[in-house]
Amino acid sequence: MNKVVILAGGQGKRMKADIPKPLFKVLGEPMLEWVISACEESGLSDICVVKGYKGEMIDEYLNGRYSTVLQAERLGTGHAVMQAVPFLEKDTDGSTLVLCGDAPFIDPTAIKESLVIHKQQKNAVTVITAELDNPTGYGRIIRNENGISAIVEEKDATAEQRSIHEVNSGAYWFRTADLIELLGKLECTNAQKEYYLTDTIAIALSEGRNAGAYKSENPDIIKGANDRKDLLELNTYARMAVINKHLENGVEFTCLDGITIERSVKIGEGTEILSGTILRSGTVIGKNCTIGPNCVIEDCKLGDEVKLNYVQAYESEIDSGVKIGPWVHIRPNSHIKSGVKIGDFVEIKNSTIGEKTAVAHLTYVGDSDVGKKVNFGCGTVTVNYDGIVKSRCVIGDNCFIGCNTNLIAPVKLGKAVYTAAGTTVTHDVPDYALAIDRGVMKVNEGYSLRKLKSKLK
Ligand code: UD1
Ligand code: CA
Repeated sequence: MNKVVILAGGQGKRMKADIPKPLFKVLGEPMLEWVISACEESGLSDICVVKGYKGEMIDEYLNGRYSTVLQAERLGTGHAVMQAVPFLEKDTDGSTLVLCGDAPFIDPTAIKESLVIHKQQKNAVTVITAELDNPTGYGRIIRNENGISAIVEEKDATAEQRSIHEVNSGAYWFRTADLIELLGKLECTNAQKEYYLTDTIAIALSEGRNAGAYKSENPDIIKGANDRKDLLELNTYARMAVINKHLENGVEFTCLDGITIERSVKIGEGTEILSGTILRSGTVIGKNCTIGPNCVIEDCKLGDEVKLNYVQAYESEIDSGVKIGPWVHIRPNSHIKSGVKIGDFVEIKNSTIGEKTAVAHLTYVGDSDVGKKVNFGCGTVTVNYDGIVKSRCVIGDNCFIGCNTNLIAPVKLGKAVYTAAGTTVTHDVPDYALAIDRGVMKVNEGYSLRKLKSKLK
């Protein structure tokens, strides 16, 4: 079976941060995850990740999904692959793809097409290359009349070799059995005193084995990040690639300022995304919605014709025709049913809001099951927490909740219950009743005249 080794041992000193470089995020996902998903899309699932700097963070991130192996000392890319030899030896029949964990845009097309060439040419090793306008920092591909003859690192290259624009992507197919043998022959007699994986090409050729190169049409697949500026460039590139895909699918953008859409997000045609909107993983948006300005939506399912304006929503479901905002927070595990209107300064948490209910302003609904066509007056609070336990409120269809009502959970309002403004509801109210809790208002005439006396003159 074909295998994959992903090199993820690097620290990324120039990032000036305390995490392994492959865990830096592009559009909200670690670069390592992009590389893994390219493998999965190519049908490769026997993956070993070589960890090094803060390797425990790689394990924590992978959470057992794939095997890892530790490179205790950072002695180069060849040395990194050597750590995976026990993984390779489990099955030496097929081929092994070696990838860099910090080059997120490697694509399934290049992976699959290069494997075809690798097999046709019966190569021990096939390297994926690309032509770059600016090849600085990359290993250069040296060719002769027979094809590739070697890879020379920038630091070891002559001025003439540095003028070559075809570079090593850092991705290769090896015949697994050849890889194990070639690794045993690497030496570290170079400018960086490292075991270079790239030396396998010249070694293979010198021994009469075949080596080849697959040149990708798309130079972007080799883009990597060595510093924060590179990382910003990768994010900018990925962001535009995602936005372009949505434009092709009929999504409307009139201004891209502050818009970031993670790559798994799905958006229906005719939907408009307004500035300042961040759409995170797991979000699915229907047709003809208006999202923004200034929304953050994470892991939510939205129906059609939903309008969100200055809304933050997490792990919730918002059905068709719902209108929310401005300045609304929808917290996890909420279900806002069709036709609901939610206005300014409202927070909904872990609650169901029934069809056509209106929560117009300044209201907190937490841990509640709210029926259809309920009207919430301004300033309603579900008092769901007594400092020890959280309890639920149940509000029947067609209830009319007066302004500034407190509902002390657990409590249930039946169907079409009215609560008078300012009422604190402490026990269940039957269908069609009015709950009113008020002292008798007194008027003390002339009070301030007596109290303030001279000050009122
Ligand atoms: C490497 C290639 C270069 C290629 C470039 C593409 C070598 C010698 N050079 O150079 O030809 O153009 O990638 O980006 O292979 N890593 C480890 N352990 C190590 C060293 C590296 O795990 O001891 C990992 C890094 O985390 C990274 C990958 O290997 O994911 C590449 O290492 P890096 O140091 O970035 O190699 P380059 O010098 O860029
Ligand atoms: Ca690099």
